Order: sequence, then C-alpha cells, then structure tokens
Amino acid sequence: VELGGGWRAVCRLEDLRDRVPQQFQVASDALVLVRVGERVHAVSASCPHKYSPLSDGAVVGYSLQCAVHGAIFDLATGRPQAGEEWAGLLPLYPVRVRDGVVEVQL
Ligand code: FES
Repeated sequence: VELGGGWRAVCRLEDLRDRVPQQFQVASDALVLVRVGERVHAVSASCPHKYSPLSDGAVVGYSLQCAVHGAIFDLATGRPQAGEEWAGLLPLYPVRVRDGVVEVQL
C-alpha cells in the first residue's frame, strides 16, 4: 500500500517474531525485516558480499549475521563489524511503526 512519501505498509508488528529475520517483497524491492523487541529494522534481502539471502541469517545482539560467510552487520548502521570490511555495506531502509503497522520507506 503506497502511503505517500515513498512509505509503504508491510505487515503488522505482531506478525514479526522477535529476532527472526523475515523476507518481504515491497513493490520492486526485496527486503528483510528484523524485530528486536519493539524496534524494527529493514535491510536489503541480499547480503552485500555474495548476495546470499539474509532471511537465513541469525540475529546476534543488534546485529545480523549472514549464514554463508558469517559477516556480522550492525542493524543500525549497515556496517560490517571490524575486520569484515570485505563484506561491504548493508543497505538499510527507514522504518516506522504506526498503529501496529510496520511501514518502510523505499
Ligand atoms: S554472502 Fe554474506 S558474508 Fe558472504
């Protein structure tokens, strides 16, 4: 649902399991939502390293670890952890939750 300003409704907050990455197709973008408590992060569905699906990844603290080569990305910045700069920068999307609905800005 296009909401103006590029914002789109994706799902309900209650549909996201805590710390379980979940992939969504929103318009032409494939993205992964990660809920950590009441906060939600939206990132590219593909690892910037070799494009593996990050929905297979594991949430470690406030980071997401790719299942294939193990790079760990900070969910707030998209940066790989120190020493893993080879993995590249994970693209992030702005997220907001309104009336229990998770919205992302494409
Ligand atoms: S594909 Fe994700 S770390 Fe290599």
